[in-house]
Amino acid sequence: MKDHMTVSESEYTDADFQKVRQIAREKAGIHLPATKKALVYSRVSRRVRELDLGSFQAYLSFVTSPAGEDEMQNLIFALTTNVTSFFREKSHFDHLESIVVPQMISRVRAGKRGRIWSAACSTGPEPWSIAMSVMTAFPDAATHDFRILATDINAHVVARATEGVYGAEDVEGIPTAWKAQFMERTPSGDYRFTGPIRRLPAFRVLNLNASWPIQGSFSAIFCRNVVIYFDDSTREHLWQRLADKLDPGGFLYVGHSERVSCANQCGLTQVAPTIYRKDH
Ligand SMILES: C[S@@+](CC[C@H](N)C(=O)[O-])C[C@H]1O[C@@H](n2cnc3c(N)ncnc32)[C@H](O)[C@@H]1O
Repeated sequence: MKDHMTVSESEYTDADFQKVRQIAREKAGIHLPATKKALVYSRVSRRVRELDLGSFQAYLSFVTSPAGEDEMQNLIFALTTNVTSFFREKSHFDHLESIVVPQMISRVRAGKRGRIWSAACSTGPEPWSIAMSVMTAFPDAATHDFRILATDINAHVVARATEGVYGAEDVEGIPTAWKAQFMERTPSGDYRFTGPIRRLPAFRVLNLNASWPIQGSFSAIFCRNVVIYFDDSTREHLWQRLADKLDPGGFLYVGHSERVSCANQCGLTQVAPTIYRKDH
């Protein structure tokens, strides 16, 4: 009798890999090069085992069926990394706090909208770091129409980000004074964001490579460590769409290893290695 608890590598065919590639491209715009074949095996075979489906083929049929809609989240989750941390690329948050937010204050106090977007927010350290920087530069931000839109394709990470609860090691990158100001300890010893800061982020599930039901434009957009999954044309198209969503003079922050290849055509000027300003 076949042992349904194991999925041997010999059962993982090239056709299976091609199918995973096709799903990743169609559902998330994620490009999996041929070099990722073994990685896909190790990540996805875990899901095949956990669901006790016995073979990659059975898993791929399930995930593409209506009943497998939730599992699609797990598959995308298995194919991407959600690694993130508080104040990752500290210079971006210094720039936001000292340049961008001060420029927004008088407009927002006069009744206009203030908007910042964390465009692949993972489990939340990025939008919550933005929120702490905003509250430091503009302490009454939460009493005005000031919001941080925080989106990710993955509903599981968006749910975690919305909770705003983190373990002691996760919050090591947050200055002690800010932990005291913006967080409380939970009975289990975790840290939870509390008080007015909780009104700033608005969390949503959003695929960057699909349509965006988003109104208005942003003073700053963080799109960091996500385009590494996309091919060149998907990436360029995304940069153009993000540039279109920036206010004139607004800023785009990208990951430390990323560059906006089409900056000129997108109407962006590079002001630091990973910071771009939208032209007026
Ligand atoms: C490495 S994390 C980056 C988190 C954060 N921006 C940072 O730099 O710390 C990459 C995130 O991109 C998300 N992602 C991957 N493809 C996406 C897509 N097509 N649309 C939106 N988010 C996507 C993943 O779910 C993951 O949470």
